[in-house]
Amino acid sequence: MYQVLYRKYRPRVFSDVVGQEHITETLSKEIETGKLSHAYLFTGSRGTGKTTCAKILSKAVNCQNPVNGNPCNECEICKGLDSGAILDVVEIDAASNNGVENIRDIREEINFTPASCKYRVYIIDEVHMLSIGAFNALLKTLEEPPAHVKFILATTEVHKLPVTIVSRCQRFDFRRVSPEAMKDRMEYIAEREDLILDEDAVSLISRISDGGMRDALSLLDQCIGHDRHVTSEIVCRVAGMTGKDHLFSLASTVSNKNSAEALSLISDLHASSCDMERLCSDMTNHFRNLMIVKTVKDSGSFLVCTKDELTQYKQQSETFTLETILQCISLLQECMANIKRGVNRRTEMEMTFIKLCTPTLNDDSEALLRRISELEIAIKTGAIKAVSEAPVQTSAPEDKPEITEAQIEEKSYREPQPTYEQAPEAANEEKAPQMPSEESSDEEQSIPWAEVLSELQKINAPLWGVLMDSQAVIRGDFVLIKSDNPTLNSFIRQPGCARNVKDSILRVTGKDYRLGIHNSQPAEKAAEAPKKDPLQNLISRARDMGVNVDVK
Ligand SMILES: Nc1ncnc2c1ncn2[C@@H]1O[C@H](COP(=O)(O)OP(=O)(O)O)[C@@H](O)[C@H]1O
Ligand SMILES: [Mg+2]
Ligand SMILES: [Zn+2]
Repeated sequence: MYQVLYRKYRPRVFSDVVGQEHITETLSKEIETGKLSHAYLFTGSRGTGKTTCAKILSKAVNCQNPVNGNPCNECEICKGLDSGAILDVVEIDAASNNGVENIRDIREEINFTPASCKYRVYIIDEVHMLSIGAFNALLKTLEEPPAHVKFILATTEVHKLPVTIVSRCQRFDFRRVSPEAMKDRMEYIAEREDLILDEDAVSLISRISDGGMRDALSLLDQCIGHDRHVTSEIVCRVAGMTGKDHLFSLASTVSNKNSAEALSLISDLHASSCDMERLCSDMTNHFRNLMIVKTVKDSGSFLVCTKDELTQYKQQSETFTLETILQCISLLQECMANIKRGVNRRTEMEMTFIKLCTPTLNDDSEALLRRISELEIAIKTGAIKAVSEAPVQTSAPEDKPEITEAQIEEKSYREPQPTYEQAPEAANEEKAPQMPSEESSDEEQSIPWAEVLSELQKINAPLWGVLMDSQAVIRGDFVLIKSDNPTLNSFIRQPGCARNVKDSILRVTGKDYRLGIHNSQPAEKAAEAPKKDPLQNLISRARDMGVNVDVK
């Protein structure tokens, strides 16, 4: 019958226990010299060797021919304890025997001498689970135990033990097993089991199991089920770490400021029944990884991922500033808190990504830091020119029209957008940028916009959502949209989105209009912006101080 690896390779002597030398050396010395305590406390996270060491110790103290403080595993006592024929070592699971009566039973029993062994040993596992009454009963027992009794208490949660118990035991803190120690042990096992372990597979297993040897060996066991040559791909598959593509794609919508794409990805994931809470936590972890890759030189050892993924993280982290990554983590954590409070998960995720893709929507300090760092990069790369000497503006204001942030956006949105055409008033922009609509001679006509929108709803629901509160007018060949939704820009840049709007207009009016943004709208917004937008405030304060922000 197949025996799982972690049972088959439970160490039988102290020297086989890896990564806990500070404990095993002390214990074997105590056995050699006969200076034994009457009570031991083993603490530490799961799968680090507590039960294993308790078993070895209980055998060693009774072994007829101990070898360097280890049990011989050959004598009658060792064999009898292994097979269960000798009952003087008692293992109690406190999780299921936590009552005062269970401890009282022990107190009765210990008055009798052991049947075959020198010591009767009680191993009480998960000892933090005992009830208060049981702790009190145990305390009395620990105060004056008979010389032929030893206690070994084990727990993952030592802080839950009364200090009175802890102070009566010799305490040993088990460490998480280091990646190197795990590697040694896995390679030892691989040799005996005739396995091939890839180096990055081993390091991946040790990082996934986070210092827990039992988890590491269980994972290895599952991998062997697929193939006796264990590769990092197999480890990923078995550990359910496959398919990070959607995380990379979703993250890149943030660096591209493409909220339409973000919404459609979330919609696809939702349709394929991806849990939004899980997605939120995976996304947080993804940005954590990007943060680490961006800030730490040798980041490989901090991340749980394959080599290829590490390269991918490195590439993606180049597309973000650290400020943006920090803002993403913080907004995603907020999103998670809201999800936990029971709000609609999908809506929450959508809102979060709209915020992340549209940094101008936020005025918290993280969003501002992100925007400032993006401005700095824009200035460095020459996308925006910062001039430190203020031109003499008062004498000839019409020569150098002040350019508002809204118009910066306007420009950057028009120029790279071939599917999107310039509105007629754009020609007037240089002359009178603030009030182009009033100067325009064209008459504005109304358009049955609500009908257009309901056509649009049928073919592009996310875009309809963005335009829901918008208005529009016809001027000449153009339909000019009035909207103060800041995400409109990124939506309309989508290939297909402008097309969808034009198609809807065509269906309602029978005419193929060109599209434009109504200019009065952003100008009005810009006029009130300094009150609302701290970054805008900052820019105008900088101007007051003589720094002019100009656009190439
Ligand atoms: N330090 C270690 N060295 C070698 N193997 C270990 C170690 N810790 C745990 N293991 C493996 O994990 C299994 C479970 O360990 P165990 O001692 O029961 O952990 P716990 O600390 O949770 O009591 C063991 O059977 C053994 O195969
Ligand atoms: Mg245990
Ligand atoms: Zn023995």
